[in-house]
Amino acid sequence: RGVEEGWSESDGKWERAAVIVKELEEKCGTPVWKLRQVADAMVAEMHAGLASDGGSKLKMIISYVDSLPTGDEKGLYYALDLGGTNFRILRVHLGGKERGIIKREFEEVSIPPHLMTGSSNELFDFIATALAKFVATEGEDSRPFPGRQRELGFTFSFPVRQTSITSGTLIKWTKGFSIEDAVGEDVVSELNKAMERVGLDMRVAALVNDTIGTLAGGRYYNPDVVAAVILGTGTNAAYVERIHAIPKWHGPLPKSGEMVINTEWGNFQSSHLPLTEYDQTLDDESLNPGEQTYEKLISGMYLGEIVRIVLLRMAEESALFGDIIPPKLKIPFILRTPDMSTMHHDTSSDLTVVGEKLSYLLEISDTTLRMRKVVVNVCGIVATRGARLAAAGIFGILKKLGRDTVMDREKQRSAIALDGGLFEHYTKFRDCVEGTLRELLGPEVADNTVLVLSEDGSGIGAALLAASHSQYLQTE
Ligand code: GLC
Repeated sequence: RGVEEGWSESDGKWERAAVIVKELEEKCGTPVWKLRQVADAMVAEMHAGLASDGGSKLKMIISYVDSLPTGDEKGLYYALDLGGTNFRILRVHLGGKERGIIKREFEEVSIPPHLMTGSSNELFDFIATALAKFVATEGEDSRPFPGRQRELGFTFSFPVRQTSITSGTLIKWTKGFSIEDAVGEDVVSELNKAMERVGLDMRVAALVNDTIGTLAGGRYYNPDVVAAVILGTGTNAAYVERIHAIPKWHGPLPKSGEMVINTEWGNFQSSHLPLTEYDQTLDDESLNPGEQTYEKLISGMYLGEIVRIVLLRMAEESALFGDIIPPKLKIPFILRTPDMSTMHHDTSSDLTVVGEKLSYLLEISDTTLRMRKVVVNVCGIVATRGARLAAAGIFGILKKLGRDTVMDREKQRSAIALDGGLFEHYTKFRDCVEGTLRELLGPEVADNTVLVLSEDGSGIGAALLAASHSQYLQTE
């Protein structure tokens, strides 16, 4: 019992490994009282960010979206969704209340990695070229009205200081993008210039973050949607705020009395966050040290990498994988979150899938069941911390909206639109977010709060917002 090939109880290696896991578990602990502190800190930062620009690490960006889709939107619109390793192009034919979405066509293009760290012109030329190609596939029934310019909803999922619904300057890159000459530039004019260069006549009718697109798309299908959260490569949230609760807004009062806010919560930081030395290592190695602390604890770009860093430490200090440190384990980002998820969901009694992944990805062969169990354990600890912290953030937003308690008699229902591959595909992560939110809200409020997976990402939402901000009156 317990003694397997490669391990001997007496040599202390196993004990050391066990200690490392135990310490990790303790430091990553997220008891409910701690999550409440995190949520309260989030709410405090939200207030500070709404009071003034630069008032908080939470940017609380004003989106210039003051009304969400009603269902009346009509016409043919394009959408472009840029924010991860792929970008999506959509053509959507909206048919108003009676007909809904008549037709949607889309294409997904993966962005060559060198373009993510190259120059602004290269990136936008690549995008405009793909867009022009897609436009060329318009059929008789998928062409804008004669004489009308094509209009586009541009989802650009990075922090942008919006100056209107159709303009905004890039504050900084996140999620592995780093294109210096684009920072501080108006991303709409960068796209416009590239479209001109490839001879494409199209107008950006709405520039939005993916959270805003998801919120708009979510509201189109469900009137209870009050917020949107992305759990994907990055993480972020947007919600509908009362204009009077935004002291930094000096513009005209919108008719709705509301304004959608992009929190950029990925950059949230608080002494209540359960950070470890592994997170420090990740941060030091990252393209944006000191930034996006909350995102680095939660999102898909980083979870697998944290697991790798922990396993490497264990290989070094406890010879987890034998006397030689597996060279592949030293390569940053080699263990991606989808691989982590696959290992974490291995239900076979001898963890065959984990064994295969370790051997295939990291060239660690001949693992024992005990080693494989350690790996699964580490995945569990890292994923659980991320998911519970994400739930605390959602709870914080509900708190800010006053939707975290039961209002007497009249039961208010809240829906939050969720999008992103992490939430969609990492089942244990998703279950943990849902379970933790329930824990935080209590059963009664939880029964009236739903997380809805967004139907088709932020694309439809961006097209809907392009429609409601169209230069043409909605007359057909
Ligand atoms: C990053 C971006 C943010 C985006 C999120 C999800 O946090 O800064 O704008 O919404 O990723 O894609």
